[in-house]
Amino acid sequence: MKTLIASDHGGFELKEFLKETFKKEGHDFIDYGTFSCDSVDYPDIAFKACEDIVSGKVDRGILICGTGIGISIAANKVKGIRAAHCTDCFSAKMCKQHNNANVIVLGGRITGPELAAEILRNYLDEEFLGGRHETRVDKIKAYEEKMYK
Ligand code: RB5
Repeated sequence: MKTLIASDHGGFELKEFLKETFKKEGHDFIDYGTFSCDSVDYPDIAFKACEDIVSGKVDRGILICGTGIGISIAANKVKGIRAAHCTDCFSAKMCKQHNNANVIVLGGRITGPELAAEILRNYLDEEFLGGRHETRVDKIKAYEEKMYK
């Protein structure tokens, strides 16, 4: 399973922390930038990362901006992306089990590093449950097909 990680400057420090922490736990995330604290625009980061997820080059993603809001709004504009902005562990678990989120979003200025790592563990370890949840996710996919040709 290939997992990318990407942030703007507001999420840079958290991205670096999560990369280091998860490397020790056996997860090697593919780093899509940004690579410093210099100001960048979160839509550019989101679109580049999400296009590689929907094309199948990468399986899933972790996106981080200051609040987690801007980058999740941008990510969810990409057809095929289901990005879940999570600030707690239960939501992180559910966004995979029920929504089959292919992107988890964190806020570097909102969620402390240790909590962010725990939220991420809850997401990475889960599986989509399918069944009635699949019916619902399929409705989102059908809507995307109709609206974004
Ligand atoms: C950047 O200053 C900040 O606006 C961005 O990281 C994010 O919080 C936007 O939603």
